[in-house]
Amino acid sequence: MLKKASKTLLTLIALSGPLAISQVASAAGDPARGENLAQTCNGCHAGEGYRNPGPVYHIPMIGGQHADYIVSALKAYKSKERSHGTMQAQASNLSDQDMADIGAYFASMSGNSRPSLVNKQKAAKGKEKSVQCASCHGANGDGDQATFPKLAGQYESYIVQALKDYRSGERDNAIMKGFSAGLSIGDIEALAAWFSSQDGGLSAPEVENFKN
Ligand code: HEC
Ligand code: HEC
Repeated sequence: MLKKASKTLLTLIALSGPLAISQVASAAGDPARGENLAQTCNGCHAGEGYRNPGPVYHIPMIGGQHADYIVSALKAYKSKERSHGTMQAQASNLSDQDMADIGAYFASMSGNSRPSLVNKQKAAKGKEKSVQCASCHGANGDGDQATFPKLAGQYESYIVQALKDYRSGERDNAIMKGFSAGLSIGDIEALAAWFSSQDGGLSAPEVENFKN
């Protein structure tokens, strides 16, 4: 990924001269500035085990998530294309630069390796089903393509909720609508058990004062 980014940078410099440099540098995001901006965010996204009040599901882990995906999610909340009142409000005042910096901050974290409590039989069934997901999300959900969210280690209840929302159209995404349409609730639970039990990928940032 780094290689790709610097290649793009070089191409842009070559094409458009010095003006492009600052634009590209800022698009990459400043994790230190992002950390400052993310204080409020960490009230919900840091530590493990915080839940959305209703419907009840775990607030997603975004530590270790791809920066590009975080930015695209924040843009979708800001434009209200993605529904969720609290997140729409959180994103409403963020500039593109703020989003890039916040994305860089969360993306700089490494994944957790934690014992999984999932049902092993469900996870085994999910592994079989997940073959169709691998080309975008990676074989165990820890894929390296920046626009496809990592799923490895994500909360089981959040994955279930996301897949149900794509299936019902509540969360509107043409690609995921297609991939969730044929899934039964059993399939959804199995896939969530599989991806959530995979190491690497994501973490809930461990921020002082927010540990639990
Ligand atoms: C009051 C709790 C709360 C706060 C504060 C909060 N979030 Fe969230 N966030 C959530 C919930 C709940 C969701 C899942 C919403 C949904 O289902 O779409 C979410 C989703 C997200 C997602 C999408 C994750 C994914 O995997 O698609 C991103 C990115 C995100 N938040 C970033 C932020 C940032 C950045 C801030 C601070 C500016 C922030 N959040 C503040 C509760 C919160
Ligand atoms: C062709 C590429 C592609 C394939 C194949 C694919 N996905 Fe996705 N997936 C995406 C994209 C793009 C998004 C982000 C969509 C958005 O912004 O809401 C996504 C989002 C998700 C999310 C939400 C993650 C989050 O953090 O909110 C889940 C869960 C998910 N996919 C599961 C699956 C599963 C399970 C399969 C296989 C049955 C699958 N996907 C197959 C491209 C794909």
